[in-house]
Amino acid sequence: MPWNASLGLTMKRRLIHSTDIAVSSLGLGTVKFGRNQQVKYPAGFELPSDEEILALLDLAQEQGINLIDTAPAYGISEERLGKLLGSRRDEWVIMSKAGEDFIDGASHFDFSPCAITESVERTLLRLRTDRVESLLLHSDGNDLEVLDHSGAIDALQKLKEQGLIRSYGISTKTVAGGLRAIELGLDAVMVTYNPWHTEEESILDSALESGTSVFLKKALGSGWFGDGEAPDDPVTEAFRFVFSHPATTSAIVGTINPKHLRENCEALTAIDGD
Ligand SMILES: NC(=O)c1ccc[n+]([C@@H]2O[C@H](COP(=O)([O-])OP(=O)(O)OC[C@H]3O[C@@H](n4cnc5c(N)ncnc54)[C@H](OP(=O)(O)O)[C@@H]3O)[C@@H](O)[C@H]2O)c1
Repeated sequence: MPWNASLGLTMKRRLIHSTDIAVSSLGLGTVKFGRNQQVKYPAGFELPSDEEILALLDLAQEQGINLIDTAPAYGISEERLGKLLGSRRDEWVIMSKAGEDFIDGASHFDFSPCAITESVERTLLRLRTDRVESLLLHSDGNDLEVLDHSGAIDALQKLKEQGLIRSYGISTKTVAGGLRAIELGLDAVMVTYNPWHTEEESILDSALESGTSVFLKKALGSGWFGDGEAPDDPVTEAFRFVFSHPATTSAIVGTINPKHLRENCEALTAIDGD
């Protein structure tokens, strides 16, 4: 039983819209498992070794995390997870993405139905699995074009009907895109929301009314904790802020540092535990 020993609390779980799949309030972001080029973190880093990733996965699980976020655009993240999760894959809820690939140091976007379908098929091969629990379009910023004119949503609906993805949505970059995704009845949106970036809050307000799941990226401001002077305990401040909004399903936080992972789980469980 995952729990915060010091407080006697367990990490809360919430259902993904339209499914019976429950996800932990903290998800593990895995950009840093697979890509260290053209990323915007405060410090450069080496990709973790297989042993280090396995230890992070064990620690995450022990702390109550059951959600992993990956993407084809995160370099070799998907294939490393496929290899390292191995026979323990079913213990995890996996979220991946489609629409963006990172090749030879540059992002390439294609949201055509054929590209989305082929991307999901490649994702399943890399992850060595027969389905992912959540699949998000990895928007290039032209959210409305992607949602309304690319045909990507129809492709995802077909993949859902085939059981290859259990739910779907979009990681947006604009307020209009997030609101449109909710209007279209997608299962989930992924948005940026933290104490230093509140511009997208109306998407959370709207998701609360519709029941759309809300996954947060950059809850810690990608490690920068805003532009100004960071507060004394920025992690607690950030989690208190993002979970004070009742629409938040899960905050996807990326780390390759076990001390940070433990700190994040303990801070989150203290604020949002059961
Ligand atoms: N869909 C999209 O378009 C999109 C875009 C960006 C991100 N994402 C997803 O969201 C996840 C999170 O986004 P993100 O990585 O940009 O932002 P984030 O989770 O806000 O920040 C991650 C950064 O914060 C640092 N960090 C984590 N815990 C910390 C702690 N307790 N104290 C100090 N620093 C800490 C990490 O460094 P250490 O490794 O040293 O801990 C890492 O550099 C990604 O991994 C990815 O899965 C999605």
